[in-house]
Amino acid sequence: MSEKVLIFDTTLRDGEQSPGASMNQEEKLRLAHKLAQLGVDIIEVGFPAASPGDFEAVSLIAQEVEGPIICGLARTGAEDIERCWEAIKHSAKPRIHVFIATSDIHLEHKLGMTREEVIAEITSGVGLAKSLCDDVEFSTEDGTRTDPDFLVEAVRTALAAGATTINIPDTVGYTLPHEYIERLTYLKEQVPEVNDAVLSVHCHDDLGLAVANSLAGITAGARQVEVCLNGIGERAGNASLEEIVMVLATRQAELGLETNIKRSELYPASRLVSMITGIVVQPNKAIVGANAFAHEAGIHVAGVLKQPLTYEIMTPEEVGLGTNSLVLGKHSGRAALGARLDEMGYKLKDADFQRLFEAFKVLADKKKEIFTEDLEALIADEILRIPLRWRLDYMNIVSGTVTVPTATVRLFDCEEIKQDFGSGAGPVDAVYNTIQKMTGTDAKLLRFTISAITGGMDAQGEVTVRLGEGDRVVLGKGLDPDILVAAAKAYLNGLNRLEYMKTHAPVVAKEERTL
Ligand code: KIV
Ligand code: ZN
Repeated sequence: MSEKVLIFDTTLRDGEQSPGASMNQEEKLRLAHKLAQLGVDIIEVGFPAASPGDFEAVSLIAQEVEGPIICGLARTGAEDIERCWEAIKHSAKPRIHVFIATSDIHLEHKLGMTREEVIAEITSGVGLAKSLCDDVEFSTEDGTRTDPDFLVEAVRTALAAGATTINIPDTVGYTLPHEYIERLTYLKEQVPEVNDAVLSVHCHDDLGLAVANSLAGITAGARQVEVCLNGIGERAGNASLEEIVMVLATRQAELGLETNIKRSELYPASRLVSMITGIVVQPNKAIVGANAFAHEAGIHVAGVLKQPLTYEIMTPEEVGLGTNSLVLGKHSGRAALGARLDEMGYKLKDADFQRLFEAFKVLADKKKEIFTEDLEALIADEILRIPLRWRLDYMNIVSGTVTVPTATVRLFDCEEIKQDFGSGAGPVDAVYNTIQKMTGTDAKLLRFTISAITGGMDAQGEVTVRLGEGDRVVLGKGLDPDILVAAAKAYLNGLNRLEYMKTHAPVVAKEERTL
């Protein structure tokens, strides 16, 4: 029987540290359920001491999500560790993940600590975590740039204090695969007791080596790999979950390793992350990109038609792509929608189901074929939504080559109806100028992206905007077969989030939230 590699998903923690990827509480909970459905072994849910919002999200997920180990991150200080434990203790399988930097660069310039002080912190931090929770992971931040003998000492100390998983991160994405193998091999030789714990790898993608380095670590004996869906994460991101899983599955005969991941859930999970974070997956992204299974050259197409193995080393169905053919249409009723949602793993409350069904009917009137992606999008729009101050009621655009683009917009502002018009350099600009005037917002439009979420001429347009106001930055998303309506919805969605955050979420400076 093959040995197992544990999949430690950190999309909700390191992934959330991607610039502009912050998620609200409901979105985090939804994603955590999806990760459980995907079959990840451990979900790193957040960093409870980083902010009250992180604390609440971690404790909600710890209470609601069953299956995987629920892990919270903490520095070595008692306050961080106790706060982490408070947040995760209701999970049936809690884990505290304690970390401290061990490289001289970090000790000197970031921590201002000596090696002796770091060792003392490891003893006290891991020891405290162990007194609260049986399952304790310890990470040597910047482990790949740490003096190998000091790394040995740090790991030996953490094991003596009770750590059950030892993670050696390539925090800045600097190492080379053979160096990582050497480092882990040396560690295992010098600290044989590490073989009684789980050895873990955590690689960043600054040089595009995160997946290669993670695999190198696995070949050197790591049996836990820390990954993010779509490879999101701090700076250039983390090793991509779907790539690691598919390498292990596709090359199983060579590597002799397996995971607990339900591979047909990879594509739906990837879609959900991209929808929630607004970070679009590049078309040529391995496994989940739009072109990952598209064959263009005639000779390739001919080959694949005769025998898929000619150019396909895995099938789209295996990763959950292509099983999403037509699911529903305008004649589908409640039972059909309910059955499809069941298959997709959603358990909606009656009122949410009713709201979704109504939105589904409206969409089905505009769009002949409703795909899984359309339903995922509707759910994000209708169910995960935050309270709305502004809602689009109606809009009309006049635009063309010989006219000044103008927009007439009618909005609900709470219950009050408002209408106005304005112009702009193009139709989107006209709509945005009008909405800006009507809402009185000072928010700046920092980014605007548009994509089609399914194929075909009647595909839904997905617009994502990033808005900034003072210290706050939010994403807004809008979906509609009409891209101008999608653009208006995205802008209003962002403004509603900003409005919500003014009363519900304290501003947390980026440097307080990241490591
Ligand atoms: O990259 C890193 O070093 C981390 C640690 C906290 C594991 O994210
Ligand atoms: Zn990291």
